[in-house]
Amino acid sequence: MSSIYPSPEEFVRRANVSGMAAYEELYRRAAQDPEAFWGALAEKEVHWFEKFHTVLEWKAPFAKWFVGGKTNASYNCIDRHLETPRKNKVAILWEGEPGDQRAITYQELHRLVCRFANVLKSRGYKAGDRAIVYMPMVPELPIALLACARLGVTHSVVFGGFSAEALKARIQDLGATLVITADGGYRRGKEVRLKDAVDEALRECPDVSNVIVYQRTGSEVVMQADRDHWWHHLDEGASEDCPAEPLDSEHPLYVLYTSGTTGKPKGILHTTGGYVLYTTMTMKWVFDLKEEDTYWCSADIGWVTGHSYIVYGPLAAGATSVIYEGAPDYPAFDRWWRIVEKYRVNIFYTSPTAIRALIRQGDHWPAKHDLSSLRLLGSVGEPINPAAWEWYHRVIGGGRCPIVDTWWQTETGGILIAPLPGAIPQKPGSGTMPLPGVVPDIIDLAGNPVGRDKEGYLIIRKPWPSMIRTIWGDPERYKEQYWSKVPGVYFTGDAARCDSDGYYWVLGRVDDVMNVSGHRLSTMEVESALVRHPAVAEAAVVGKPHEITGQAVCCFVTLKKGDFSHETLGKELRQWVAHEIGAFARPEEIRFSDSLPKTRSGKIMRRLLREIVTSNSVSGDVTTLEDLSVITKLAAQQDDE
Ligand code: WTA
Repeated sequence: MSSIYPSPEEFVRRANVSGMAAYEELYRRAAQDPEAFWGALAEKEVHWFEKFHTVLEWKAPFAKWFVGGKTNASYNCIDRHLETPRKNKVAILWEGEPGDQRAITYQELHRLVCRFANVLKSRGYKAGDRAIVYMPMVPELPIALLACARLGVTHSVVFGGFSAEALKARIQDLGATLVITADGGYRRGKEVRLKDAVDEALRECPDVSNVIVYQRTGSEVVMQADRDHWWHHLDEGASEDCPAEPLDSEHPLYVLYTSGTTGKPKGILHTTGGYVLYTTMTMKWVFDLKEEDTYWCSADIGWVTGHSYIVYGPLAAGATSVIYEGAPDYPAFDRWWRIVEKYRVNIFYTSPTAIRALIRQGDHWPAKHDLSSLRLLGSVGEPINPAAWEWYHRVIGGGRCPIVDTWWQTETGGILIAPLPGAIPQKPGSGTMPLPGVVPDIIDLAGNPVGRDKEGYLIIRKPWPSMIRTIWGDPERYKEQYWSKVPGVYFTGDAARCDSDGYYWVLGRVDDVMNVSGHRLSTMEVESALVRHPAVAEAAVVGKPHEITGQAVCCFVTLKKGDFSHETLGKELRQWVAHEIGAFARPEEIRFSDSLPKTRSGKIMRRLLREIVTSNSVSGDVTTLEDLSVITKLAAQQDDE
């Protein structure tokens, strides 16, 4: 039996959706007539230059929401607040890692975004063009996104931790002609150099004709004449008048690359009207956002959480959104709690990995700070283990803050399963119930619902406004990956169980996708990186359970003929993967082997390798194995370092 935590009475009384009956009523209305439900909300919550004539056009698996409507995400995030008392409210409350601060009001944000949009315009960029954004967590990152959105330039943020290789692949796949970057950013007191990586990537990206460089650290960078321009030079004297383009509701707002089951990342496409509506609604429903709240999501804008719940959702909902540039442990392990205390943060949203890492450092760090301003906590990215949940609740939330464990994906654009905190009592480790308009189920591969208390595949039956529209440039892969495993339903790739109270428990991925610190990484991506190394013949990669990061990358490698020191090569290969993909993908373990376990048809049996790294033994069916002796050897071998 898992324990149940009802939200405190005072919280429930003031909640945007107050009490179970209110949630049930909302859910029932959405289920009964989804189009009427979303249509009414879209009229009320989104600004339209021209109203839509059709709520949903569903030619499965391709959805169009609010067809005929003209809108603009940047307008919704900024301009419409200027006619309200929010005009001088702080939109972005920013703290840099070295301690510098900025508070940008909606009006000021409008000026900054308009100026930068005019910069882009003056360089010839317009609706339909694509820009890559590779920046540290400074206010100019959301400003760049909102300026792109203002013109209809589709943006794609590449997380600053990705390498030049990964950056290049994304620029090429997107067909981007503009890169917006910075000299560097700060992480744990050191500079993370970004412009250097851009220069390396652009050697093979001839279509990029402009690189705009924001000066953050002031360190030396090489500027290529004609191609590279300083942000502050272009911005000087740019006009503050730049009306938002009325764009089709389905205009591509952004593409965000995420790992799939092959070596090639997928560009997930999100569009405008439905995305703005859904992220706004989830801010109100899940984060119970109030006008006076100071809201902080600690994610990086390079991931979907930052897109939906640092930039678009909070700003569209008129919130004050805190952004912190650096690491949680710099200069000490109480940096986050210092920020909560300093800005009197009310709503705090982070990942289980971060929570576990902070638990390990001890309760005396949060105890040094007054965290009494917090009223709601959130978690995202991976399942949260009940012990971490309870610590978060007790030590950070002082026992008075509900926790919203939010299940969603890059593809879903917004939170699909989470407790509405004023309505649904929480069970540690469960995302609890679906949001209004979301129809999940748990099924077997034949498509039959497995019923209560049984494990199966988590699927979503009905389209929702912020859903993925396609994989950039590859609609066939979109169909195949998400809609054909079980025909006609959205396949999440997660295993889950629904208990007898109707609470969902997401157990993890069922495919070859690892989840390291809440970041998705495909086994194939790491394998392809490894086999690009001249010494490597073959590689198989699996996720290994890890106390802090959830999973860690574990690689099995066979080498080409030659005289290699395993110790040196182990180090080199770790470094190699970090260079090829990004530091967050650095393997925890490299194991060398003469051969890898394969089926007779030559497929690597990752299931066996997963068992080896988990338990150092193998059970189950191995009759299809080509060479059984391989297993015993692998299991016997310890990590080579
Ligand atoms: C996992 C992050 C359990 C899940 C928003 C999903 C979770 C993948 C949770 C998506 C949660 C995310 N409980 N598992 N609350 N949130 N996941 O695309 O496996 O980076 O499929 O999106 O993370 O990761 P992504």
